[in-house]
Amino acid sequence: MLNVAVFASGRGSNARAILKNIDRQRIKARISIILSNKSDAGIFDIARQRNIPYRHIDLSHYTCEKDYVGDVLSILDGHNVGLIVLAGYLKKIPSEIISQYRNRIMNIHPALLPAFGGKGMYGMNVHRAVVEYGVKITGATVHFVDEEYDHGPIILQEAIRVHDDDTPESLSEKVLAVEHDIYSRAIKLFADRRLEIDGRRVYVQNSKGQ
Ligand code: GRF
Repeated sequence: MLNVAVFASGRGSNARAILKNIDRQRIKARISIILSNKSDAGIFDIARQRNIPYRHIDLSHYTCEKDYVGDVLSILDGHNVGLIVLAGYLKKIPSEIISQYRNRIMNIHPALLPAFGGKGMYGMNVHRAVVEYGVKITGATVHFVDEEYDHGPIILQEAIRVHDDDTPESLSEKVLAVEHDIYSRAIKLFADRRLEIDGRRVYVQNSKGQ
């Protein structure tokens, strides 16, 4: 069974959607640890309700990054984590963790990458930029995490139309519904070992493994 670690900084609606699909046995995995850099993150309520181990861990509490990285890696190791899922996690993942979990860290971004990504592009900033630019489609992207923000190999994307009367708020609601769907699909593909990665390209194998 795949052990998943969820890293989140906020309310955790993506984590909730993933847990729902695990409960329905659509995803053969378990969330074995939840980490947040915020002590009051909504995601911790989910952890407490579901008896999932959780840890508040923040780089600013450490005198050096090496100790922080060591603690994160030992937590992940202790839970035998096979996949890290970033769900609204607002901190950069140190490169040592990325290299140890290469192509085993996923992120969801509320736009169609490579558009509207990069440093500072998170949450409502993204939807405001989308409306201001005047693009006609937006959507959500699930990708593997590499050393650059919003840059790693793309696993799944789904588009939605931007209507004339859309606002950043209305788009954020519509895109979130798409996120909840595609994040679970991507995790399921990973858990079923159907993702094959070749450089920047991620191929989805059919269920017979061809
Ligand atoms: C989502 O919009 C996600 O794309 C972004 O942060 C938000 C997290 O929402 N990375 P939630 O905490 O999962 O509700």
